[in-house]
Amino acid sequence: MELRSVRKANVADKRVLVRCEFNVPLDDTGSITDDTRIQVCLPTLQYLLQQKAKLVLSAHLGRPKGEPGDEKFSLRPVAVRLGELLGKPVMMLSDCVGPDVEKAVMAMMPGDIIMLENLRFHKEEKKGNPEFAKALATLGELYVNEAFGVCHREDASMLGVTEHLPSYAGLRLEQEVSELSSVLESPQKPLVALVGGAKISDKIKVIKKFLEIADHVCLGGALANNILKAKGMAIGKSIFEEEMMDVAKELALVDTRLHVPVDVVTAKKIATGVPTEIKAAGNVSDDEYILDIGPDTVRLYSMVIAKAKVVVWGGPMGYYELNEFARGTKEVATALSTSGARTIIGGGDTLDAVKRAGCLDKVSFASSGGGAMLKLLEGNGLPAINPLIE
Ligand code: 3PG
Repeated sequence: MELRSVRKANVADKRVLVRCEFNVPLDDTGSITDDTRIQVCLPTLQYLLQQKAKLVLSAHLGRPKGEPGDEKFSLRPVAVRLGELLGKPVMMLSDCVGPDVEKAVMAMMPGDIIMLENLRFHKEEKKGNPEFAKALATLGELYVNEAFGVCHREDASMLGVTEHLPSYAGLRLEQEVSELSSVLESPQKPLVALVGGAKISDKIKVIKKFLEIADHVCLGGALANNILKAKGMAIGKSIFEEEMMDVAKELALVDTRLHVPVDVVTAKKIATGVPTEIKAAGNVSDDEYILDIGPDTVRLYSMVIAKAKVVVWGGPMGYYELNEFARGTKEVATALSTSGARTIIGGGDTLDAVKRAGCLDKVSFASSGGGAMLKLLEGNGLPAINPLIE
């Protein structure tokens, strides 16, 4: 899939409306706890500045209810951090549309940077409202999408604006799409997919896609409980999704490339400091939760990973936030980092877990998208990318 690259745009002296993915985690004091998403936008922003563009940056933060004024969703901390990283002032505006915004934008000089306030302070953004998209589009002469993590959304700033402005893909967006589509289009074999996390309903389509194209699909996290249960194994008090049981049964019975844990770490409470046990899958008592994959499963998954040419991983293998249940995820991260495979990971929790395991710099590519990566890997494209295809 070839995207219209920002490198092909003539941006000198032009107002470039850049849709960034700045949905970063903040702590209770409003400080950014991980600025990776700002960092990955930098090459595009620096390129545009070198080309003497005027940068009008738009983004969302969190999920405010569509009304301005809630400081905890303000993009101000992002503007400050971005200014530090670029070594240039970033002018923060108090809204993203309206006469004051237009006035500030029209007065810009080449090299100036304006950060618009949270797009989601207007409910029209999420509704993909055409008038709102048009109002945003008046702020730019060109549009650049550098928000891979939001490309599965049909928000006004992602899709509607492209109807009004010549639209291009940012450098990171190009890289995300190229890395992930290469897995779908021409994967080197063996291809191994590791899928974990809580809900199988969120990941069922991607699991099915991998069962078509991958050599092994290894499941972990609470979503594997659905398949264990479908195979008739006891899962105690562990969470599973009743409404997904029919689909889980279909998968469990027919596919030999689908691997589920052969042993698990259990506890009677989900808390730190509780006694844990390693049990064979299926041997879990009624009063226990499954909270991690066990050592035999780690060994099996690690063997599969060691032989792979490409590994794609989304979703932790257990309740990794608590040390007691972090081992499976950590050891799978280590297996990835020591394999000779091309390794691609994605999703906030997976990146966090791999970072905690000290292996983040050893993966080949860490996608900045969670939901967007999953959607792209389902194989049906992404709505906000379609207008950017050459
Ligand atoms: C993300 O963090 O996955 C993206 O920014 C999308 O956010 P959303 O799920 O609130 O649309």
